[in-house]
Amino acid sequence: QAKVEIDLASIPIGKNVIVKWRGKPVFIRHRTEDEIKDAEDTEWQKLRDPQPDSDRVQKPEWLIMLGVCTHLGCVPIGEAGDFGGWFCPCHGSHYDISGRARKGPAPLNLEIPAYEFTGEEAVVIG
Ligand code: FES
Repeated sequence: QAKVEIDLASIPIGKNVIVKWRGKPVFIRHRTEDEIKDAEDTEWQKLRDPQPDSDRVQKPEWLIMLGVCTHLGCVPIGEAGDFGGWFCPCHGSHYDISGRARKGPAPLNLEIPAYEFTGEEAVVIG
């Protein structure tokens, strides 16, 4: 379907959830305080796809992005890799806790889909 609504209240701090949207996985992470700090403190100017964390989230505690590796489209694994985020096992790309490409062949950060918060604990993707 074109849009999908997610109840965020069911996702504890420090957990990932994967939902399907338009046939693609969407990763939702309820980030911890430490993860938010790590994402915000990264020297993003030096990254291969330079982007501050603030351009990738609407609310710092909720990271919402497409679970499609920007190399060749595999689905990365959560809570893995060298940067505290995701790891793509297909060819070894590492993404940080903001979903930014940090190591391996992925040229770009994980894509952020269109979404909006429709309440304190609800978000609509699409
Ligand atoms: Fe992810 Fe190649 S598809 S590293």
